[in-house]
Amino acid sequence: MRVVSGIQPTGNLHLGNYLGAIKQWVAMQDQVASGGGQSLFFLADLHALTVHQEPAALANATIEMAAALMAAGIDPAKSILFNQARVPAHSELCWLLGGTARMGWLNKMTQWKDKAGKNSEGASVGLFTYPVLQAADVLVYKATHVPVGEDQKQHLELARNIATKFNTDFAVELFPLPEPMIGSAAPRVMSLRDGSAKMSKSDPSDASRVNLIDSDDVIAQKCRKARTDAEPLPGEMAGLEGRAEAKNLVTIYAALAGRAPTDVLGEFAGQGFGQFKPALADLMIATLGPIRDRMTALLSDRAAIGAALAEGAARANALAAPTLREAQDAMGLQV
Ligand code: TYM
Repeated sequence: MRVVSGIQPTGNLHLGNYLGAIKQWVAMQDQVASGGGQSLFFLADLHALTVHQEPAALANATIEMAAALMAAGIDPAKSILFNQARVPAHSELCWLLGGTARMGWLNKMTQWKDKAGKNSEGASVGLFTYPVLQAADVLVYKATHVPVGEDQKQHLELARNIATKFNTDFAVELFPLPEPMIGSAAPRVMSLRDGSAKMSKSDPSDASRVNLIDSDDVIAQKCRKARTDAEPLPGEMAGLEGRAEAKNLVTIYAALAGRAPTDVLGEFAGQGFGQFKPALADLMIATLGPIRDRMTALLSDRAAIGAALAEGAARANALAAPTLREAQDAMGLQV
């Protein structure tokens, strides 16, 4: 079993990242370590470059995101933790796969359509080829499992298509097909301000998300102000249909508590958000508060985080180099 996943070091780690991906990373890390497999987690700094980044801010955010991951439980002694830019095989394999990926496949990517919007002529080339780099990220390690939130599912299907076409075109069995692992508890955490938009680092409203760095007071306030409706909570999940904001909060509660949503509704049925929101805020603070405090402590020694990433990159390079070489050989680049 080889587990690989990444996160862009832009903005802060938020509750959507945590519940959709990082919580699973930590669980899988422990499972994989005990089974003799390998897990690799990285800061996708090259992906971040597809929109302009201030260099100093990107460097800073990379260290902070690494600290956030470590604080959340990613242990460099159990997993390989590194930043993508320090493992050149990602970029090199991306170029090799550029001959395999089809324009039509990339044109169908919903994130490309959403991010480029009506101005695709003005979008960067990198934004368009972004999913090919993502395919290279996982294929360069022959990943078997990729834990992600639901929004990354399409990119991973593309990675599987690229792997299949490469294996077929060059008559090799080089790349195993990576399996997306979409966390079942909260695969798509929605904005606290709009139940139809996903919680996201790029939402201009900070009130739309709970950030890992938020103080307890800020978390409580964001929770109190979260958009809801005036109805009491129903006894069954079916009663939340058409109530996107309410459903989101119940899903978050259940994921944080490690309980089934129906079980949570069993406890709160008939109660309004005046009762539910403070309980939810307490749960958020109990989960995120200690992670935030560990992150702050880790950030008192940024050099140590940089050193941990450098060590992770050395280990990742050693795993990636043979696959890159095999891909080159398969393509006639061995001269
Ligand atoms: P990114 O940085 O946007 O998000 C990191 C992880 O968090 C998940 N996520 C969410 N899950 C549930 N609800 C949400 N509201 C939510 N928002 C984010 C994402 O699904 C993701 O798992 N392209 C990727 C990074 C990447 C990658 C990879 C991932 C680069 N290469 C290779 C897997 C494998 C991204 O931008 O994720």
